[in-house]
Amino acid sequence: MSITVRAPAKINLHLGVGAPREDGFHPLTSVYQAVGVYDDLTLADADGWSVDLTVAGWMDRDHVPLAGDNIVDRAAALLAARHGLAVTGEVHIAKEIPVAGGMAGGSADAAAALVGLDRLWGANTSDDDLLALAAQLGSDVPFALVGGTALGTGRGEIVEPVPDHGTWWWVLVPSTNGMSTPEVYRHYDRLFPDAPAVPPMPEALLAALDAGDPHALAAALHNDLQPAALDLRPDLARLIDAGEAAGALRGVVTGSGPTCVFLCESADAARATAAELRASHDVVLVTTGAVAGAHPVAYG
Ligand code: C5P
Repeated sequence: MSITVRAPAKINLHLGVGAPREDGFHPLTSVYQAVGVYDDLTLADADGWSVDLTVAGWMDRDHVPLAGDNIVDRAAALLAARHGLAVTGEVHIAKEIPVAGGMAGGSADAAAALVGLDRLWGANTSDDDLLALAAQLGSDVPFALVGGTALGTGRGEIVEPVPDHGTWWWVLVPSTNGMSTPEVYRHYDRLFPDAPAVPPMPEALLAALDAGDPHALAAALHNDLQPAALDLRPDLARLIDAGEAAGALRGVVTGSGPTCVFLCESADAARATAAELRASHDVVLVTTGAVAGAHPVAYG
């Protein structure tokens, strides 16, 4: 048999970052939203184990890592160990989520692998177990399972859905050169040596989501990592200005960057903003959120 599992990219509507913990990770107060840009993993029965990859036409294949320590390999090893199974299967990744872009593309692949292999192997892992395995794979992997709009705490791995009554229109501008997440966090530590132990709750943003009000949400978007990302990549500040001048309500860096996301008032406004940004940027995507977490879309 084979199964295709679709997993969404995430953006951060809010990213509050505290002082590093003893384990080196940063305590986060994050509001994630899953948006309609996806990686699809097709997993089929096989005697051995293989993973291959195709990428969206606009992506540079050479920038997409597929080494032995690929997060899909790690997801398979972890799930197999949990059930005492051998790692088998033929996995094909069709990648649309920008790589090293701050949109958790690797985490989406890991979540899709957990869901797909669980079905392929007939392992019947409980939701709680799957979330626990996801948390071992990376801070953003549990959210890729859950999707929607959710509050992330701990190092980002403890996720809880939040009330969201909007249909939000986003313009996304990835960058051809990715950024290293650890490097952006290290720069954040240098810039903000007095960060709090627990970043505060974004009350205004949660209220805007509940009300479904794009102007209020635009005003409340916030990313503590943005000053560090802009310091390392000054071109992103110009991109944010350009998107706002082109009609977006607000633009911010998402996650550790370099992808910038622009909230727009409507579908038409998003298309108009994207059309203007395309004059100066090769890749400009229009999408909506919130969408579902990793879910099967086809069986063969
Ligand atoms: O958990 P994940 O593997 O996605 O994290 C990648 C890197 O990002 C970590 O090694 C760490 O440098 C940084 N990070 C962090 N604090 C977090 C999440 C990630 O410092 N809460």
